[in-house]
Amino acid sequence: MTFRAFLVAVMLLPVLPIAAVYGHGDGAPQPVDTSGLPPLGEQWLATNPYRNDEALRATAIEIGSRGYNSNCARCHGLEVKSGGMAPDLRELGEGESEDAWFIARVLGGATVGGRQKMPPFDGLLNQEAIWAIRTYIDSQPE
Ligand code: HEC
Repeated sequence: MTFRAFLVAVMLLPVLPIAAVYGHGDGAPQPVDTSGLPPLGEQWLATNPYRNDEALRATAIEIGSRGYNSNCARCHGLEVKSGGMAPDLRELGEGESEDAWFIARVLGGATVGGRQKMPPFDGLLNQEAIWAIRTYIDSQPE
């Protein structure tokens, strides 16, 4: 290795881990394939339609698990166990007002003091994907 090549290699070292993170798709929001769930329509529902649906719940959890891991886990923690970087989503209650709060947060993201702490998922995740993620989160033990 020439000295020049050595210098270039050393300069690139700090970049490599960052490239690895983004290369795995952990950085950019990922679309979620919801083809296993019937379309819920354009109108946003007020509550999670899969919570008490015996037939669709298991499919929703499976799709939600994929959606959560590719879009939320890097901040909210693997298996929804927060490492302290973002709130522990298992602690959000399962009622109607919590559902509304959940949807509002996921669609709008969170900006605190002018800094974006969570990106908005409006236009990226459809209603099926967001309720599936909610169903997955609720399926994780506290
Ligand atoms: C870049 C990091 C990041 C990503 C990615 C992210 N979040 Fe968040 N999220 C945060 C932070 C930080 C907060 C707390 C914001 C605040 O201080 O109000 C938050 C807040 C929330 C809240 C409100 C929690 C509460 O207790 O009030 C919900 C619900 C939520 N996120 C769901 C999600 C879901 C679902 C995803 C994936 C689709 C996601 N987040 C992706 C960082 C993130």
